[in-house]
Amino acid sequence: MKIFIDTAKIGEIKEAISWGIIDGITTNPSLIREAAEEEKKNGKETDLYSYIEEICRTAGKERPVSLEVISQEADMMVKEAKFLYHKFNPIANNVVIKIPINTRTEEKGADYEGLVAINKLEKEGIPTNVTLVMTPEQALLAAKAGATYVSPFAGRIDDDIRKNLGIKFNKNDYFDFELIQEIFKTRLKEQLKKQAEEKISDLYHDSKIRFLRDGGNDDGITSGVDCVSKIVNIFRKHGMKTKIIAASVRNARQMRELAQTGCDICTAPMSVIREMLRHHKTEEGVKRFYSDAVHAGYDELFKSL
Ligand code: E4P
Repeated sequence: MKIFIDTAKIGEIKEAISWGIIDGITTNPSLIREAAEEEKKNGKETDLYSYIEEICRTAGKERPVSLEVISQEADMMVKEAKFLYHKFNPIANNVVIKIPINTRTEEKGADYEGLVAINKLEKEGIPTNVTLVMTPEQALLAAKAGATYVSPFAGRIDDDIRKNLGIKFNKNDYFDFELIQEIFKTRLKEQLKKQAEEKISDLYHDSKIRFLRDGGNDDGITSGVDCVSKIVNIFRKHGMKTKIIAASVRNARQMRELAQTGCDICTAPMSVIREMLRHHKTEEGVKRFYSDAVHAGYDELFKSL
């Protein structure tokens, strides 16, 4: 499995690459904004054009860099995509264009503009990373349209399910869906006991029973990891060549579960990559080995280094 870093901060990109574990970079307009604001705070005023150039140069030839379009209509998305691709790809031959799966909003737009743009870009040989994917069916359509990558947003799917259930959480909290399911199952049993005398067809349609039966199950998707796992299953079953990037990763345990799904790539922020490395027993062990080494005379042994 490949690991991409989900950031537009050049310092983080450089550092993660120096660790020898980074295969690519994903950015989005929010990440670019965050990076630009940090630069400004540090007194380094730079224009967006040169900044993106530097991201591509830092990533280097082997590592794809996802850059996102901003328009909502296919024609404009294609124009922006071509601009980004032709301006920045020559630097290190690594640009991939991020297209939202669906740019329709309540206010305007149509459902298909993203698909049309993906398809046009595929025909022009411009690689795409289809973003804001929240369901396996969106991923399937993106793949059919010719996407090079699809990015299901695992963390945002978890956020939505927890919000619908009224569960309070911090952005990086692990989402324990198994516990949620146990709670709902127990409550469902209790409710069924209470209404045991009613006819089966009444129970089947009863709103309380239905709520407990479907609780937390958002259209058959029980978590972000579950969504990625279903996409992996569909793509493998049908031999689809589009690569799956599990995105919107919030913590190390979620990263582990995403890796277990068999997805091709996980893209994670620096904080999650650091968290993956840490364990209190590792730290304790390092301290103990160091102090024992000193007592054993290693200092003397390494004196000449
Ligand atoms: C992926 O390509 C996106 O940039 C990213 O993973 C979104 O993550 P967020 O939901 O934490 O903003």
